Amino acid sequence: MTHVFATSPQSGESPAPSAGMPHVAGTPGPNHAGHEQVVFCQDAQTGLRAIIAIYSTALGPALGGTRFYPYESEDAALTDALNLSRAMAYKNALAGLDLGGGKAVILGDPARGKSEALLRAYGRFVESLNGRYITACDIGTYSEDMDIVARECSHVTGRTVPNGGAGDSSVLTALGVYEGMRACADHAFGSTSLAGRLVGVEGVGKVGHRLVEHLTQAGARVVIWDVDAPAMAAALAANPAAEAAASRADLLARPLDVYAPCAMGGALDDDTVATLSARVVCGGANNQLAHAGIDKLLADRGILYAPDYLVNSGGVIQVADELAGFHFERAKARAEQIFATTKKLFALADEEGVPPAVAADRLAERRMAEVGRLRAIWLGD
Ligand SMILES: NC(=O)c1ccc[n+]([C@@H]2O[C@H](COP(=O)([O-])OP(=O)(O)OC[C@H]3O[C@@H](n4cnc5c(N)ncnc54)[C@H](O)[C@@H]3O)[C@@H](O)[C@H]2O)c1
Repeated sequence: MTHVFATSPQSGESPAPSAGMPHVAGTPGPNHAGHEQVVFCQDAQTGLRAIIAIYSTALGPALGGTRFYPYESEDAALTDALNLSRAMAYKNALAGLDLGGGKAVILGDPARGKSEALLRAYGRFVESLNGRYITACDIGTYSEDMDIVARECSHVTGRTVPNGGAGDSSVLTALGVYEGMRACADHAFGSTSLAGRLVGVEGVGKVGHRLVEHLTQAGARVVIWDVDAPAMAAALAANPAAEAAASRADLLARPLDVYAPCAMGGALDDDTVATLSARVVCGGANNQLAHAGIDKLLADRGILYAPDYLVNSGGVIQVADELAGFHFERAKARAEQIFATTKKLFALADEEGVPPAVAADRLAERRMAEVGRLRAIWLGD
């Protein structure tokens, strides 16, 4: 693939595409099919190299966080931006937000490359899109960084509370996962109550830790696993009723009612699905399905899967609320709607005879098409 950020192209290399022009269809490399706009941003002085991908603005400005990550190649960064922005469009649509989907990546090691000047340079590029893209936090960026970006740009959310921001989005992410899990329990076990159910939580970072709190308060039995010993210790100290698994294999071998992946993506691969005893999978992690076809495998094994981008949308609901002046109770009420949306989704999946992940995509696409189409109604001068 062309290396857009090369400052002096070697002879024989193709010219770099300009901002807003995705790569030519048919060329090898990341698949941009369906994206509205892909912008490459560079500021040599600060070392900023960023890609902003806008998948859809059918429902409104494209909202999605900025990932600051040491990608091994520009291709890898572009692929991530393209995949993540598409996922955000679906997540925002299903969450009922009047927002499209976008995502940005900054190429580099945040521990070494992040500076005030770089973040402000990035903010100016976001501002140049005139509100078509609204940025927020993601891996490698924090609310404090968004405060800095906001000094150059008005299309930012996820800022710190003292600056009018929504703060840590894991609060409503965890609540939304819990609400989704109650809807799963209703569908799989005939009751929304999780009391007495054995729930395995994998990953007890910001989201998993808070989810464990909701679950123990609801009377569920909880077993946890995390690769990070201090994270395990903190979760156990805060929730003495929870039990520690000795390993991931140990967690998965338990007679779980519910498995809640709350760590990295790809938790549901062929091996995991083959051994899973849980009747329900519902967790906060993004991109849980390791590959296409896993949703069918889960359905074939009678395991109810709550689509990740639906049940973990409490976080984006929280930061989206900031755009209207953050109001926690309003955002919380909206995150609680994940219960009703999850139930609606399972009903649609049953009706159409498809796995819930397929039904989720259909619901999101339907909303993008039906509501997005309304822009065609001319409002007059
Ligand atoms: N924070 C949010 O608001 C939010 C919103 C939507 C989705 N998510 C997704 O939820 C997941 C967790 O996010 P977070 O904010 O809690 O992140 P975090 O970094 O605070 O926590 C992740 C935890 O997972 C653990 N972990 C990493 N690899 C593991 C492994 N192989 N096995 C077991 N544990 C492992 C880490 O040690 C850490 O404790 C991520 O996939 C994230 O993309 C988060």
